[in-house]
Amino acid sequence: MKGVILGGGLGSRLYPLTHATNKHLLPIYDRPMVYYPIATLVNAGIDEVIIVTGGPHAGDYLRVLQNGRQLGLRHLEYTYQEREGGIAEALALCEDFADGESIVVILGDNTTDADIRPAVQDFREGALIFLKEVHDPDRYGCPVFDPADRRRILRIEEKPKQPQSNLAVSGLYLYDGRVFDYIKRLKPSGRGELEITDVNNFYLEDGLLRWEELEGFWSDAGTFESLYRSNVFWAEKALGAQAAQSGIVQETIPQ
Ligand code: G1P
Repeated sequence: MKGVILGGGLGSRLYPLTHATNKHLLPIYDRPMVYYPIATLVNAGIDEVIIVTGGPHAGDYLRVLQNGRQLGLRHLEYTYQEREGGIAEALALCEDFADGESIVVILGDNTTDADIRPAVQDFREGALIFLKEVHDPDRYGCPVFDPADRRRILRIEEKPKQPQSNLAVSGLYLYDGRVFDYIKRLKPSGRGELEITDVNNFYLEDGLLRWEELEGFWSDAGTFESLYRSNVFWAEKALGAQAAQSGIVQETIPQ
């Protein structure tokens, strides 16, 4: 499968930080944010990636990522979203890149230490979304489950005022080639965007949507709170790993 990273937008919720660069190039601990979704894809065996960028700092990507080889990518290309038209509109720009094949889509501010390789390897058709328990589901796409069958999603609501569950739809999606046909049927939502949640609801109506719970850490990083939370997690993970390593070294050095 090929990978799509959605990394455009103005990042206005993070002003003044995003006056100087694209949100997805801001640091999460010791590396630019977008390194993490790239690593998620590369670890799943995906080495052909397109990044949808946008806004005034799109050129910064090239300085940071160059051709992506140093991060394990064989092919890296970029495209540019001209306005704030939503995630589904950004994805529509990738139709030629996908070339009819299935794709893994990840939002450029989503970081996770989950291993999606088994899901990618088993994927055949339809759509697969990943849910994660959160304390603020009203900030996300949120599933409504069948009360008679807690595995069955009836519909997904985008940023519901009264969430029906504490599971959020993460910004990590597997889609087959149908996704671009569904996007063409979308109408702009109340916030004037083509919503990825509406795409997922189309798959659901056609009986083609599956879901899994994401294991491990997952967060977006589009607000100061979630950016901070992501930094703390990845810093502690890296520093914890270093401490564990030095502990092993100390134990093995003969006294
Ligand atoms: C977007 C999607 C939402 C999803 C979230 C994950 O929200 O619209 O369904 O749960 O990403 O990060 P946005 O980033 O537009 O607030």
